[in-house]
Amino acid sequence: MSSDFLGGRFVTPTTPDGVIELRSPADQADVVGRHPWALAHVDEAVADARAAFPAWRKLGLSARADLLRRYQSALKAHADELARCIAREIGKPLWEAKTEVSAMVSKVDVSLGEGAAYVKDVSIDDLPGAIVHRPHGVAVVIGPFNFPGHLPNGQLVPALLMGNTVVFKPSDKGAGTAVLMAKCLEAAGVPPGVFSLVQGGVATAEKLVTHPGIDAILFTGSAPVGQRIVAANAHRPGLLVALELGGKNASLVLDDCDLERTVRELAFSGFATAGQRCTATSRVIVTKGIARRLVERLAAAARSVKVGHVFDDGVFMGPVISEATRQRLLAAQARAVQAGFEPVAPGGVVDVAGREGFFVRPAVHVAKAGVTRLEGYTDTELFAPDLAVVTVDSLEQAIDVANDTEFGLSAAVFTQSKEVFERCVDEVRVGVLHWNRSSAGASGRLPFGGIRSSGNHRPAGILMGQSCTYPLAVLLPQKADGPLPSWPGISF
Ligand code: SIN
Repeated sequence: MSSDFLGGRFVTPTTPDGVIELRSPADQADVVGRHPWALAHVDEAVADARAAFPAWRKLGLSARADLLRRYQSALKAHADELARCIAREIGKPLWEAKTEVSAMVSKVDVSLGEGAAYVKDVSIDDLPGAIVHRPHGVAVVIGPFNFPGHLPNGQLVPALLMGNTVVFKPSDKGAGTAVLMAKCLEAAGVPPGVFSLVQGGVATAEKLVTHPGIDAILFTGSAPVGQRIVAANAHRPGLLVALELGGKNASLVLDDCDLERTVRELAFSGFATAGQRCTATSRVIVTKGIARRLVERLAAAARSVKVGHVFDDGVFMGPVISEATRQRLLAAQARAVQAGFEPVAPGGVVDVAGREGFFVRPAVHVAKAGVTRLEGYTDTELFAPDLAVVTVDSLEQAIDVANDTEFGLSAAVFTQSKEVFERCVDEVRVGVLHWNRSSAGASGRLPFGGIRSSGNHRPAGILMGQSCTYPLAVLLPQKADGPLPSWPGISF
């Protein structure tokens, strides 16, 4: 099977360095695909992208937008195939995989419309001068497993639109989804070298992000890997490194919240995608007046979650991505219970008949009075369905506990009070803040990105077009009939 897309066609490495054999996390007996990879393809892809850049840039925005509209049509035509592939590869229930594909389709509209409008050149007549936007050049997109289509799509569409050429290295767990995306770009008529796909794991990613021929890295993944990418490129300050990293996201629940809505939004935040969203809530910080009722309702919601295979009817939650993730979660939960957290909805392994998947129960653990933090549990991104509930005395304490983390991606506030929410806008340190809505998810019409260990502000979302360009300051000549320049101490 050809899994790499180079020079405008699918190619199989003649001498592969390895093969990714993808088995579904929902059923290890289901071999989803085999994807050979070769490090030599990294050099080829970067050389092709460099060669294709000048013509692609010169082609102009509207011709590039036309191509991306054709890509969007191909995505629509392959929507079912894409959704089924995402479901099997990642273990998302099919209904959820379909929402991911819809997000990919609408991302094209948003990027070509509102997103492009944020990258307008500006003329300053009385200077005279102008701000014009230039593409970086060769952009490397490194995708995550949790949204193997939607998240890289949200970077490569604006990158291509703005005139960059792209080399895409998907997560090795989403290799087949990436092949389908490449097929859609092929169907759209992408010129050779403008878009390339190289498969592989850590070695491929390392070679790409340290390649001398690249101009930008758009990375979505874990904080430690993001830090390694920055360290490896410390000598290249001109390289754009846009990072969308993880989170340890808090939902702040105040006494005056609408309990019915809050429980629903929290259950979605914590358990959708089996907790494997960068924006998932993993910490619930609740004021004491409503804590008991919230915990009862949340535990009941967690126990009601139907866990199962991605194609089974009525399933809300599939498996986590790997046995390693499952074991890390179980170990962190054991540590929490040992430290006195009460498992009001206990975690644990779930057996789904006839399936060898990495299924777990969604869990809720409540901290003892006075405990707001536990090393290895409340400070660690587990990327799994577990809510740690901490009770606090006041809004001030809720904000302090929410900020007591190295991360800063997403948070949610549940209150009826506009003043309280506005105070949180001012004081909660995150890149995305929700009011009476789930912390999980984002709007493509807004910026997306985190602060501190969650990234560097705008690696995704509506301002991605800006991230994919740099502003060039253009100074135009002074009026020809104006005074000639002169300075003290020099004669002409
Ligand atoms: C995420 O939470 O991992 C991505 C959020 C989104 O773009 O919907």
